[in-house]
Amino acid sequence: MEQIVNLAKRRGFVFPASEIYGGLNSCWDYGPLGVELKRNIKDAWWRAMVHTRRDVVGLDSAILQHPDVWRASGHVDGFSDPMVDCRKCKSRFRADDLEAATCPERHNAPINADCRSHFTEARAFNLMFRTHLGPVEGEGSLAYLRPETAQGIFTNYLNVQTTARLKPPFGVAQIGKSFRNEITPGNFIFRTREFEQMEMEYFVPPAEWERWYDYWREQRFQWYVGLGLKPEHLRRRDHDKTELAHYSTATTDIEYLFPIGWKELEGVACRTDFDLKRHSESSGKQLEYFDGQTRERFTPYVIEPAAGVDRALLAFLCEAYEEEKVAGAAGGEGGAGGGGEVKPGEDDVRTVLRLHPRLAPIKVGVFPLVKKDGMPELATALEESLRERGISTFYDQSGAIGRRYRRQDEVGTPWCVTIDGQTKTDGTVTLRERDSMQQRRVAADDVPALIAGQLAR
Ligand code: GAP
Repeated sequence: MEQIVNLAKRRGFVFPASEIYGGLNSCWDYGPLGVELKRNIKDAWWRAMVHTRRDVVGLDSAILQHPDVWRASGHVDGFSDPMVDCRKCKSRFRADDLEAATCPERHNAPINADCRSHFTEARAFNLMFRTHLGPVEGEGSLAYLRPETAQGIFTNYLNVQTTARLKPPFGVAQIGKSFRNEITPGNFIFRTREFEQMEMEYFVPPAEWERWYDYWREQRFQWYVGLGLKPEHLRRRDHDKTELAHYSTATTDIEYLFPIGWKELEGVACRTDFDLKRHSESSGKQLEYFDGQTRERFTPYVIEPAAGVDRALLAFLCEAYEEEKVAGAAGGEGGAGGGGEVKPGEDDVRTVLRLHPRLAPIKVGVFPLVKKDGMPELATALEESLRERGISTFYDQSGAIGRRYRRQDEVGTPWCVTIDGQTKTDGTVTLRERDSMQQRRVAADDVPALIAGQLAR
């Protein structure tokens, strides 16, 4: 994890928030490469969940909702973690996660019997952030930052269903920020107080819930595999009855083998008709489905795949990160467009992020072999033709060519193109692949279509 955090900082993926003021516990900012990676993850999710489907539409609801939304949903009364205080060191811990807790007074050693002897009784700590609307602070102005995006979908159920003329089974997808005042945030971007979720509420006839629950468990698992997580690093774990959230009768966590162990990446839950019924009762609006032809009326059940953007990003980084031993120039970084910095016979270690090309923040590194003989101009023209197609590029003309390849390997750029002396005479360039480090000559004019074709796969 330390290597990932270092790389993320060094190469502009993730910075500590408010760093010049000493940072703010568990708050992170996404840098130029991080924001692209995050955007690509969200685009991949939206494409899989909305654009390629006829039965799912999108929504973007407000972070601030009427406080009654959170009363009806059960969050005001029930969205809490059990917390204990240490009377000695004044730290707070989640009472249900003491195995993982460490004592700041004893250099973050695991808490022991002595620590426990100073703990208070566990009490419920509500995780919702409170704020006030308008200039006067009081009970009447109290509002909450949403702890999940899902409720905006439930409160808009009728708006969406009627305007988009949808019939169950259908889904409503949303990506956006959520906030939880976690007692013990940590492990980099794994658990934070401000994070982004990708959630979809799939409304189904009650009798069909099991079928759709199985369907979404499988679909969501395969989404991660399709974007590069190894199946052996993923598993599904069913919640036992004591673990279930207050709205759920069945939940499966899709877990990933992070460097900190198996941890939840996404939850797939059956929320039954809990939310629609609670909002119906509380608002007085009937949130049902009425079929005009069959005259049938029912409250749909909901299957919810709920993923975290930040957590997915961390998993993709962990999976992609590799320090690989590479043989010297004979190992493939020499040749016309090469000129690797490693001497023949010597070994080199390269850091490579084997990100799925669709997730990679930069798709193509474009390099003139030298800064003269018209090479920078040819490289700039090629770079522009790539950018015109919406393919992100990085232009680099400084340092040995092998070093430039390594810099792109480290941030996961799947392809590099080098313009050299031969380009002027026959219009070809060297195309170098990140994973195999293989190089081949292709016509410069063919590069944009070739890369676009690879990205569309
Ligand atoms: N609407 C259901 C729901 O919110 P959840 O399991 O609490 O379910 C869904 O959250 C996903 O959101 C989690 O699997 C995780 O990826 C992400 N998530 C939840 N809390 C988080 C936190 N404090 N920091 C980062 N991601 C979080």
